[in-house]
Amino acid sequence: MILFKKATELSNHLDEQRKKGIKTGFVPTMGALHEGHISLLKQARKVSELIICSIFVNPTQFNDPADYKKYPVTIEKDIYMLESAGCDILFLPDVPEMYPHGTDENIHYDLGFIETILEGKYRPGHFQGVSRVVHRLLEIVNPEDIFIGQKDYQQCMVIKKLLELTGMDKTTRIHISPTLREKDGLAMSSRNTRLDDAARQLAPAIYQSLLQLKKNLRPGNTHNLTGNATTFLTQKGFKVDYIAIADAGNLSPVDQWDGKQKLVALTAAFLGDVRLIDNILL
Ligand code: PAJ
Repeated sequence: MILFKKATELSNHLDEQRKKGIKTGFVPTMGALHEGHISLLKQARKVSELIICSIFVNPTQFNDPADYKKYPVTIEKDIYMLESAGCDILFLPDVPEMYPHGTDENIHYDLGFIETILEGKYRPGHFQGVSRVVHRLLEIVNPEDIFIGQKDYQQCMVIKKLLELTGMDKTTRIHISPTLREKDGLAMSSRNTRLDDAARQLAPAIYQSLLQLKKNLRPGNTHNLTGNATTFLTQKGFKVDYIAIADAGNLSPVDQWDGKQKLVALTAAFLGDVRLIDNILL
């Protein structure tokens, strides 16, 4: 695996590879890697000849500065995992490399409805930060294929929208991989390492609440389902930001289900100061 810290050096190297007709696949991450990230790499291996992974904890997507400071960093373990998984190139930039004009620049992406709801509502500015960093990364890497996880359902939609807005959808294809879970159902996440033993025991309740909701879904009003799930999690000690049932295609809220519309259930909840998210297709 080759390690690049400088954007220009990586772009030049990739331009050379492209001239030889080599197809590149890109897996952007913030590090503290787990098997969920590695599943994206394995997916990339099936599609692409040259796999690039980036590790960059992006300050502009953290609406809470304390969350940014506490974000886990395990770079040596990450490098080992990437090498074992057959990653070809690791891009490991620092903040000035990613934001040469500083992080305060006034850039706005017209993401529309998608950034006004759910994560967008509870984490103001988050998707603008995601868009900024993914746009910059895509300009540097310019891959044929990008691999992202359903775990961050709304982020997948934002990245799709970003590709449309920038015209990059003409050159880069998106692949969305299913969520990898621990044996007890907890969605793998870098933030799980911040849960203490008691919280870790409780955490799978998030997935259980979604499964319960799926089991009880019937055509008609959906309010009871989300209400019951919220009560279930609150009683277990979670502070619930939202539990929502939405159209799987555009995330518009669904209060009345006709029995046909494709739905997704999404949730975000705090256990102590650790915020966890999850979703399942219904
Ligand atoms: P990060 O949280 O590190 O996630 C990197 C990628 O791994 C994302 O596409 C995410 O959806 C996927 N992923 C996370 N947990 C997963 C799991 N349990 N199963 C499958 N895939 C999983 O998402 C980000 O970083 C950042 O917002 C980023 C896109 C890199 C921009 O900074």
